[in-house]
Amino acid sequence: MSVFTILFIADICGKAGRQATAHLTIPLKEKYAADYVIANVENSAGGFGVTPEMSQKIFTYGVDLQTSGNHIWDRVDILEYIAQEPRLLRPDNYPHGVPGSGVFVDHVDGVKIGVLNLMGRTYMADIDCPFKKASRQLAAMSEQAKIIFVDFHAEATSEKQAMMYHLNGKVSALIGTHTHVPTADEKVTSRGTAYISDAGMTGPYDSVIGMEVGPSLGRFMTGMPKRFTTAKNDVKIAGVIVRVETETGRAISIERYQFGFDIEDAEGSRDAIFKRDKSESPDADSENDNDNDIAEKASEA
Ligand SMILES: [Fe+2]
Ligand SMILES: [Fe+2]
Repeated sequence: MSVFTILFIADICGKAGRQATAHLTIPLKEKYAADYVIANVENSAGGFGVTPEMSQKIFTYGVDLQTSGNHIWDRVDILEYIAQEPRLLRPDNYPHGVPGSGVFVDHVDGVKIGVLNLMGRTYMADIDCPFKKASRQLAAMSEQAKIIFVDFHAEATSEKQAMMYHLNGKVSALIGTHTHVPTADEKVTSRGTAYISDAGMTGPYDSVIGMEVGPSLGRFMTGMPKRFTTAKNDVKIAGVIVRVETETGRAISIERYQFGFDIEDAEGSRDAIFKRDKSESPDADSENDNDNDIAEKASEA
């Protein structure tokens, strides 16, 4: 059995998110021995959309394919770019005639992977039905690729879970995005579909879903519109690793990851990704670890 490993980077939010992606994508790819990297880029440009220049740069960080969501149209110059760049997806269930596409089939060392980007409709724009669109697209995609990865960009966990049952056994992975808050419900179904309601965010976690607290809190307290800027502190890169059986397209595992990033110590952030392996290793000498704990406590006292 051969295994195909997908590294998914959750919604990249603002400059902090872009910097974390720039510095940590390759180390994460190495750590998890990933074959393919998918990133949701809908909030890359100050939290609102992505510019063509940013999208091009994000590819150079080691990302193979970019997905998006409701914010994809926030930058006007993306319209022309998305029509020409098939590796930047927008939700596929936007009405016919909208620029770009929500589907891409890629080839990696003889393995084909199909990626589908969809958007929910609960508390979101009332676009075409994502469930019917998924059925139609998967009929065509499954002819081309065994491995199928779906980024379902949606607000309601109920809609995401319903989609999981709709696509159960028909896709390798159904990964929720958009809320920027990672959920703890990752699983592989008995039919071989990896699922999580939301993969989280790559960006500043000391924030209201990536934005500075003041204006966001102010909007909730007054009901008045406020100008939002992306926050800066407690930056993390987050998402999931999905391992798929190459021959069948069945998921084997899904694992959440989340690592801190400090632009002042990018090298240290990179090293921490690998250091965690050591401390988690079953070979680690637990007696010595306990000794160290006691020594540290003694020195703090
Ligand atoms: Fe987002
Ligand atoms: Fe979104």
